Amino acid sequence: MNSPFHRPVLVNKVIELLITDKSGIYVDCTLGGGGHCRAILESLSPEGKVIAMDIDQEAIQYSSRLLKEYRGRITIRRENFRHIGELLHQEGISKVQGIFLDLGVSSHQLETPSRGFSYKSEGPLDMRMDREQEKRAFQVVNFYEEEKLKWIFQHYGEERFSGRIARAIVKEREKGPIDSTQKLVQIILPLIPGPGANKTLSRIFQAIRIEVNRELENLRACLEASMDVLDKGGRIAVIAYHSLEDRIVKSFFKDRSGRCVCPPGLPKCVCRREGDLKILTKKPVTPDEDERRTNPRSRSAKLRVAEKL
Ligand SMILES: C[S@@+](CC[C@H](N)C(=O)[O-])C[C@H]1O[C@@H](n2cnc3c(N)ncnc32)[C@H](O)[C@@H]1O
Repeated sequence: MNSPFHRPVLVNKVIELLITDKSGIYVDCTLGGGGHCRAILESLSPEGKVIAMDIDQEAIQYSSRLLKEYRGRITIRRENFRHIGELLHQEGISKVQGIFLDLGVSSHQLETPSRGFSYKSEGPLDMRMDREQEKRAFQVVNFYEEEKLKWIFQHYGEERFSGRIARAIVKEREKGPIDSTQKLVQIILPLIPGPGANKTLSRIFQAIRIEVNRELENLRACLEASMDVLDKGGRIAVIAYHSLEDRIVKSFFKDRSGRCVCPPGLPKCVCRREGDLKILTKKPVTPDEDERRTNPRSRSAKLRVAEKL
């Protein structure tokens, strides 16, 4: 499981909660280094199949090699998970028994300086998961208006110095393009009083990454589309690594679980909403002490699972 590409999180829990039919078809929407995917394949019977996708060509190449022993039981495609419906349609599949998403970036993406995801190393302002896409972090940092930058830092980074940082970026770029991770770091660092600079850097980089890759939009679209292809009794499992994603998953599950939407104060329910999901994790599943210690990246992980009714 200790792939140099990415170390998967909460693997046993994912298998325990996701697999209901060992000969079913499962979709791994975020193949990455293939750790979860391999665990899913190994827990299935020889009839069980996996359709796996990732938007990143490097993940596809790495995992295709890693999983070649499962040829015939796995289909790997480079695709955005928001297109899960179209992909399954192309494969001639109408319903699947499980859908899995392990959100965010892989360790490989984060630790490859030329991808520009990390504030810790020097690299171009890139941050694209899909390297065929036009928009990079460079465009966001150098061409977005100050107000829009501030909004992104506030909403996607939940950063309290958003205004100050947006203003400094706009002032600095008048002198010349901000074209590297470390140039951006050097603009932000003097603005942060006391300790906590790394947390701010991490939040600002996260915010830009979310904007470049339209991460929240893609997640919402994938959750919606998943409901059309998930079989009755099938399950959807999602691991989120920050509160923005986790909130989207939590409220999507709640909305689809038939929660009453009557205005407060009515003597009895009149909306009679019927849900099509049953929430299996009232509270999100988190890694135990041992996993948190041995895999620090797992510390913020929250797994939520729901079953299609
Ligand atoms: C945390 S990693 C997954 C790690 C994987 N579970 C493993 O065991 O190695 C997240 C992966 O999701 C991919 N990804 C992010 N957004 C995506 C999207 N919209 N469509 C498809 N893949 C996406 C990233 O490229 C990255 O490889």
